[in-house]
Amino acid sequence: MAFELMSQAIVGLDIGSSMIKSIRLKKLKDGYELTGAEITPLSSDPIEEMEPDARLSLIRGAIKKILSQKNIGSKAAATAIPGDSAIIRYIKVPYMGDDELKNMIHYEAEQYIPLGMDQVVFDYQVLNEVEEENQKKMEVLLVAVKNETMNQHLDLLKDAGVKAKVIDVDAFALCNAYQLNLGEETEGVKADTVALINMGAKFTTVTILEKGIPHLTRDVNIGGNNFTKEIQREFNLSFAQAEELKKQQAAIMVESEALLLGGMPGGGDDKASRIYEAITPALNKLLNDIRRSFDFYESSIKKKPVQKVLISGGSSKIKNIDRFLSERLGVPVEVNYPFKNINISSKNFDFDYLRANAVHFNVALGLALRKEDK
Ligand SMILES: Nc1ncnc2c1ncn2[C@@H]1O[C@H](COP(=O)(O)OP(=O)(O)OP(=O)(O)O)[C@@H](O)[C@H]1O
Ligand SMILES: [Mg+2]
Repeated sequence: MAFELMSQAIVGLDIGSSMIKSIRLKKLKDGYELTGAEITPLSSDPIEEMEPDARLSLIRGAIKKILSQKNIGSKAAATAIPGDSAIIRYIKVPYMGDDELKNMIHYEAEQYIPLGMDQVVFDYQVLNEVEEENQKKMEVLLVAVKNETMNQHLDLLKDAGVKAKVIDVDAFALCNAYQLNLGEETEGVKADTVALINMGAKFTTVTILEKGIPHLTRDVNIGGNNFTKEIQREFNLSFAQAEELKKQQAAIMVESEALLLGGMPGGGDDKASRIYEAITPALNKLLNDIRRSFDFYESSIKKKPVQKVLISGGSSKIKNIDRFLSERLGVPVEVNYPFKNINISSKNFDFDYLRANAVHFNVALGLALRKEDK
């Protein structure tokens, strides 16, 4: 155990469906220093369309490669279960002590989790205390993962040589990274109620927090793969070619710009507008799902509007997506730069690369921070 305590920090390993992101941090007296940040692409095709064995071996190989680096220190890692594999519930229970809660939460959870309690791995966390109808209550977060899903995840990690220290969920790793930056908001819009929207390849995670405490989490099954597939269809390309075209040229024509382009002879760049038109239906579906989450939050959970949106994930790199969301949702939207409160030495990192790719790292950063918990 002593060796464990003295060993290097754990790796935050975000096993995404298109790329694995890893972050390593060093704890300083005051804050953290970044010691590792890498993106390892998995495949040029969407991996969920592969045979399970081929997919797992690809992920295993990528993780092994990440962990085999000389300076990695330890193979202890924090990883996350994708949100769509977890059952997440926010509940309220009467105020009680830790021991009492521990005894009764199992019975309480049964009402909210649509599976037998023997079929899931289950955890909980007290989020907050509230006054309701003159009664003191506690807001509790319940997370349950099917045994089968958890075992598959643990087997994958074991086969890849990872010492699994923490298993989290994408959404809460994002909250964790966000909390590190709370109070550091010297720039940008100040807001109590904030939505974190992480747009990946396969899905988009929406979490709404008030004063840093999450109250709603939704996973929307739309992400970069949907956009790529629409581009692939429109231009008759392979997935890999469409992916490249998307990264080079995908842009959203926001109202102000559409006017501008419309006013030009020929209506602006034809290819760019074809890409935009191709991705528009998926984009609108995503927008509607986000809007529905906001509406539900504002009408049923807190009766307070979302004041600011912070976007991250690779798909937040689509040009103008911040302006698009801001115009359509009527809320300021900012890019969620994860390293605001992290020391980064220019000796060790290429700032331009980190800045350009920062939005991929929010989940991995939140995971790398987790070691402090236990
Ligand atoms: N410049 C860009 N423009 C548009 N999309 C981009 C750009 N760069 C990367 N992407 C998209 O970002 C996605 C990858 O982002 P991210 O690393 O957040 O996903 P992931 O974690 O692998 O996926 P998921 O969380 O859905 O499993 C891919 O769909 C990729 O096409
Ligand atoms: Mg992801």
